Amino acid sequence: MCGIVGYIGTQPASNILLEGLRKLEYRGYDSAGIATVLNNQIHCVRAKGKLHHLQEKLAGEENPAQIGIGHTRWATHGKPEEYNAHPHTDTHRRIAVVQNGIIENYRELRDELKVLGHEFRSDTDTETIPHLIAECLQGIRDQGSGIGDWDGIIQNPKSKIQNSSSPFLEAVRQAVNKLKGAFAIAVINADYPDELIVARQQAPLVLGFGQGEFYCASDTPALVPYTRAVLPLENGELARLTPLGVEVYSFEGQRLRKAPRTLNWNPVMVEKQGFKHFMLKEIYEQPGVVRECLETYLNHEWGVGSGDQELGIRESQENSDSRSTSRSTDNKGQSKIQNPKSKIQNSPIRLNLPADFYQDLQQIQIVACGTSWHAALVGKYLLEQLAGIPTQVQYASEFRYAPAPVTPHTLTIGVTQSGETADTLAALEMEIQRRSGLAKEYQPRLLGITNRPESTLGQLIPQIIDTRAGIEIGVAATKTFVAQLVAFYLLALDLAYQRQALSLDQFNKILDGLRQLPAEIEMILESQERYIEELAHDFAETQDFIFLGRGINFPIALEGALKLKEISYIHAEGYPAGEMKHGPIALLDAKVPVVTIAMPGTVFEKVLSNAQEARARDARLIGVTPMDEQEAEDTFDTLIPVPHVDEILSPLVTVIPMQLLAYHIAARRGLDVDQPRNLAKSVTVE
Ligand code: BG6
Repeated sequence: MCGIVGYIGTQPASNILLEGLRKLEYRGYDSAGIATVLNNQIHCVRAKGKLHHLQEKLAGEENPAQIGIGHTRWATHGKPEEYNAHPHTDTHRRIAVVQNGIIENYRELRDELKVLGHEFRSDTDTETIPHLIAECLQGIRDQGSGIGDWDGIIQNPKSKIQNSSSPFLEAVRQAVNKLKGAFAIAVINADYPDELIVARQQAPLVLGFGQGEFYCASDTPALVPYTRAVLPLENGELARLTPLGVEVYSFEGQRLRKAPRTLNWNPVMVEKQGFKHFMLKEIYEQPGVVRECLETYLNHEWGVGSGDQELGIRESQENSDSRSTSRSTDNKGQSKIQNPKSKIQNSPIRLNLPADFYQDLQQIQIVACGTSWHAALVGKYLLEQLAGIPTQVQYASEFRYAPAPVTPHTLTIGVTQSGETADTLAALEMEIQRRSGLAKEYQPRLLGITNRPESTLGQLIPQIIDTRAGIEIGVAATKTFVAQLVAFYLLALDLAYQRQALSLDQFNKILDGLRQLPAEIEMILESQERYIEELAHDFAETQDFIFLGRGINFPIALEGALKLKEISYIHAEGYPAGEMKHGPIALLDAKVPVVTIAMPGTVFEKVLSNAQEARARDARLIGVTPMDEQEAEDTFDTLIPVPHVDEILSPLVTVIPMQLLAYHIAARRGLDVDQPRNLAKSVTVE
């Protein structure tokens, strides 16, 4: 994905655009550029590579222009070279466009436009847009004095822009109706210096409202330094920003009345606050993130002397049935038991999901990508082991084109921190389409787990669990992963409560354990970060790593390997510890460190013996395990101690050393930890 920004107002635009791009650079950093309108000329400056190259080019340049657009790129079509950098212009350089997304029909449009005499200068799909707008505008002009009398060109004249006298706006509207794919664009025109036109289709775009100045951006961090009044555009909407205000229209041309809402963020949240990297800051924010989720979603009245602890909880097997039935004759509890609604109201977990969400739920399928896919694997373990619901996890990009057969009474969960990952959104849209029109029990039942409820996912799915981790700038996900895990604990416990799948003791033990976790994570950060920083020095030359885990910690081994790959570029693989002897063990020798998660519980012994198999091949063994486990001390060369927690809760502590190890190995190599090569915070193209 790319980052786009735009500004129109009373101040010089360049610095505002650059500052906005700095806040969006996590979205892509292959090249950057800005364009402004001054004296009826487009002034465009672009540079290959990170934003600082563009800043150097602009340094010392006095540009008073008060309207402009900017872009930071994650290359999809055309190499990360300056000639492919945005903004792109039309043949006569009167129109400039920045875009985030992919134009799927750009080749046909490009060929048509070439026949009409347009000259192309790049290999990008985006460059098609300024040429297309120029063609539409010419069409409007050829039809004389304006909107009224050139219906011939418009496919369906009825849908002209109502009550608007801007041929530029109409030309953009006509052009976006010809584009296929996902796109968010911002457009300026040297002949219309007081108009900034933006449009959104399947890619995020937010407007910002100031006093006589207006902004647009791919994401809110670029707006926070200037305003809290924001308006996310929806798919199929375009807007005209002028110094006088903002007009929003549908792609059909209908005027839409929209009002901004107030963002509950502050500029500090998008700053490093003294940390060397956003990733380390976000790792240290995790205790607070877990606290915030528990504070928000735990029912703090539950169990406080009201006796509602009994409700929904299976006590000992022999008297559960009698209790529920008996209660129906006892007038104090009667209504409570019979009415599932009261059961939800009395649940220890408050996810505010509707009653029919829980009814007759027989199975769950989860789609996700990257780190969110690892959170989904932990979610599967919890939903099956705590709530007893069969759960499938699929890579969204695979599910999109090879979905599991349609099954009845099935909940589909999409996990995406950004809420903008195209593969996950496309998989969910496909699931909605293929189930709509089927019998009731096959109807789509969806839940989104995201950190951005205002995102495209939030517009696609009515039921959302907001993971409330706050904006995450570091490209490698950390705090949003931990927040996703907490969301799955809460969901599994809520479903277990509704289905009476756990005993009261089990329930309270897990709830108490969850409440201890923020302090335990703080303890790891305080006591282990320096130690892990030292340890990282040992791997300055290491080229391969193996991560092992079993049961609920297998996904954490995968996450540990992914974190290391993402930011240190070291080849690393995560495996179920029991699987290693069936092949991957061939990779082992003294140069391949093996990081093993060994938490006391159902698979502790098995994991230690798997580690012994690696020892027999001279691999250096690093154990993530509680301090006082003698067997573990005898097994591992190096220990990374974590607190003793219940095995079912252990992923929330074992992932922390994984994040810190990857961070310090990458930082020690002097790599750009926050903006690793070839990656983007989430990918809004399939
Ligand atoms: C990748 C990011 O682009 O997308 C990963 O680099 C992330 O960090 C993955 O895990 C999925 O993103 P999301 O927003 O769908 O959770």
